[in-house]
Amino acid sequence: MIEMSSTQIRQKFLDFFADKGHQVLPSAPLVPQNDPTLLWINAGMAPFKDYFNGSATPPNSRIVTSQKCIRTNDITNVGKTARHHTFFEMLGNFSFGDYFKEEAIDWAYQFLTEELGLEEDKLWISIYKDDDRAFEIWHHEIGVPQDRIVRMDKDENFWEIGIGPCGPCSEIHYDRGIDFGCDDGCELGCDCDRYLEVWNLVFTQYNKTVDGEYLDLPNKNIDTGVGLERLASLLQEAPTNFETDLFMPLIEFITQNCDVEYGQSEETDLSIKVIADHIRSITFAIGDGALPSNEGRGYVVRRVLRRAVRYAKVLGLEVPFLHKIVAIVVDIMGEHYSELVKREEQIMKIIKQEELRFEETLEQGMNILDEVIAELEEDGLKQIPGDKVFMLYDTYGFPAELTEEIALEQGFEVDHDGFEEAMQQQRNRAREAREDYDQGHSELELFKGLRDELGVSKFIGYDHKAATTEVLAIVKDEQEITKITTGEEAKIILEKTPFYAESGGQVGDQGIIKTDCASLKVIEVQEVADIIVHQVELERGSLEVGEEVEVEIASGLRAATARNHTATHLLQQALKEVLGDHVKQSGSLVTPERLRFDFTHFEAVTEEQLCKIEEIVNQKVIANLAMVTEKMELEEAKQLGATALFGEKYGEQVRIVKIGDYSLELCGGTHVDYTGEIGFFKILDESGIAAGVRRIEAVTGQAGLNYVQQQEDMIADLADKLRANPAEVVDKVDSLQNKVKSLQKEITGLKDKLASSQSEDLASQAEEINGIDVVIDEADGLDNTGLRKMGDNLKQELDSGIIILGSKLKEKVVFVAMITDDLVEQGYHAGEIIGQVAQVAGGGGGGRPTMAQAGGSQPDKLTAALEKAREIIAGV
Ligand code: ALA
Repeated sequence: MIEMSSTQIRQKFLDFFADKGHQVLPSAPLVPQNDPTLLWINAGMAPFKDYFNGSATPPNSRIVTSQKCIRTNDITNVGKTARHHTFFEMLGNFSFGDYFKEEAIDWAYQFLTEELGLEEDKLWISIYKDDDRAFEIWHHEIGVPQDRIVRMDKDENFWEIGIGPCGPCSEIHYDRGIDFGCDDGCELGCDCDRYLEVWNLVFTQYNKTVDGEYLDLPNKNIDTGVGLERLASLLQEAPTNFETDLFMPLIEFITQNCDVEYGQSEETDLSIKVIADHIRSITFAIGDGALPSNEGRGYVVRRVLRRAVRYAKVLGLEVPFLHKIVAIVVDIMGEHYSELVKREEQIMKIIKQEELRFEETLEQGMNILDEVIAELEEDGLKQIPGDKVFMLYDTYGFPAELTEEIALEQGFEVDHDGFEEAMQQQRNRAREAREDYDQGHSELELFKGLRDELGVSKFIGYDHKAATTEVLAIVKDEQEITKITTGEEAKIILEKTPFYAESGGQVGDQGIIKTDCASLKVIEVQEVADIIVHQVELERGSLEVGEEVEVEIASGLRAATARNHTATHLLQQALKEVLGDHVKQSGSLVTPERLRFDFTHFEAVTEEQLCKIEEIVNQKVIANLAMVTEKMELEEAKQLGATALFGEKYGEQVRIVKIGDYSLELCGGTHVDYTGEIGFFKILDESGIAAGVRRIEAVTGQAGLNYVQQQEDMIADLADKLRANPAEVVDKVDSLQNKVKSLQKEITGLKDKLASSQSEDLASQAEEINGIDVVIDEADGLDNTGLRKMGDNLKQELDSGIIILGSKLKEKVVFVAMITDDLVEQGYHAGEIIGQVAQVAGGGGGGRPTMAQAGGSQPDKLTAALEKAREIIAGV
């Protein structure tokens, strides 16, 4: 056996088969590109299904890859066994109607024994029970002794995964010796670690259909798969896959950050291994465009990530921590999978955000789960009710599987049916709400009836701006009527129409409908129950069902809308280019005036990125790319890589809008013929509208020019006011701000001086009451602070005395009282005096004997209130 790094093994495999005429292809992304039957690429052959079943032609009849794979069905075994993973790399060589069993077996054996130096007498072979040809090759041609070739049945030696290409297979196993076995007697096929299944050679002859039928494939093919992690564990003499160079750096990083050592206990090792495993799948999945969410693929990412967070907590790691390990994954894998290097920063941010989001509810959810378990324990019950599992899912973001795992660890089960029921109830509630809404709209029912009677509307607006057509129906106040007259508003259905009905974010057309004796304004156009409904206002004459009419859209508005719509497509592509492939449209609005585009992205788009995006879109405008539309099957459009709206339902036939070679989208909207017509694209604003969703607003054409001119006018105006050239405005503002600052400082100094000289004056004018120096004054305009400052100054001027100050301040009045210590000793109390004073002015307040403040709501009583102060002092 030759010791080798995993990088060397991977490369050796690719080189070996390249030498045998195979084309080396890069790994396909983990997110299947055109395969709705698969959540993740889960085997080396998965991206090649169409080559196997003959529906597409491979670039070469021999291909070799190292394919990224995700399988999460055995997630709870990860870390408990030597070789279960959620992410792994499958090395595979493929023949599409080219070579078959003989070469596949011969080369696999050659690679293992000659290239990797595995000892021949440790290799065991399993074959499908009836596959005599495989036996012949292994035994007679390769020379494997008969007793190391085992025939097995369909469970073991027939490979299929879901639907698609499959067939009998032959597996090569490596005997790691009794030390790895469960007991002395275990045999090939045992689940323990002794006979390590290394390589699976599938003789792909059938195509399994959705109905479970096995149809013969047009060609006989070869599909093989060998797990890189397993090969590495053999060649690096690692007891499990985790002690190989693919995992150890991750394990070391994890243990360096907590108080735990690898090998310390089974429990802590499990947590470490789970984190090391899960971070690889999350990193690669997000790197390939998946994002944590509550649906489908995103749910898997969320579930695996949250599971890892929980294990990190067990180790005492501070959340967020996982995102920090991404750098190590990239270190180990980035050389071969360069997409990771490119997206490292994004991947980290997305993971960190999800960690933080879960952290917010993790503690709370855990506490609730603990309480639920404690209660069940008290009642002697063993099953967590479904509604509780649902509540943890719905409110605290606990994937149901996570709750189940935690429960199982503590000897509890979860009520799956109850959970499903609670889930279903929620769906029902949502549906009922929708239905109620629909039912309330009897107009909808009316239009459905009209559709059944009149047929679906014919839209001719892609090619025509005007038409002669017939009025098929008129609807007013949810009633079908036959005629409308001047001044009335109604909804009209035409036999055919060039009016675009609002859809896909694009607003409906406006325009006119007329006959010789009537003219109508079309205000809004909507599609209801597949018919196009024109909201009109009859300006002159009258109109009846059955009349022939001339209709024409407002082509200026249509053109402006088209500019914005095409620009939206360019913008979407530019966003992907600058921010990354995770950018997905989550909404849009296209009007004649402007466009708005909402998309998934986890942070604010920087000024610099916005400039770049604007620049790219404008370059595409200048390049004057041609817009082409085409109708095709949905599948075909997807294969071409057309961008579709996530969650949107499309019919079998779809329309694609292609802009040069730059953008390809499924879209029913109206567009410019050449991007040059857009004229100019200008972003007005970028903002966040929900967690992970950003919005860009922009304008095109004349509106873009208007905007720039307005900005220029504003600058010119500013420059004018500043008596500067536009270019000097910024410097000028800077210097003005500095000036303001120094003036403010000066004013504060002057105010202080003024206050103290006023205090001197006031002190010298103190009146004498009961032999005490008293200053009572109205100091209008001063607020509390000002009054206090003035009081402090006066107190310093007077050795002994009482100061009562009041000030009118807009709708209120404020008071301050200060008394020197010697007079406090004689029984004068600032708090008490000011309380009574403020009462006169409709307020109250109080404070210490030496200093007190109060307020009142009747400024006109200020003088009377101060007079009251005199009386109080005189009366004490
Ligand atoms: N497709 C085969 C597997 O995944 C090689 O095992």
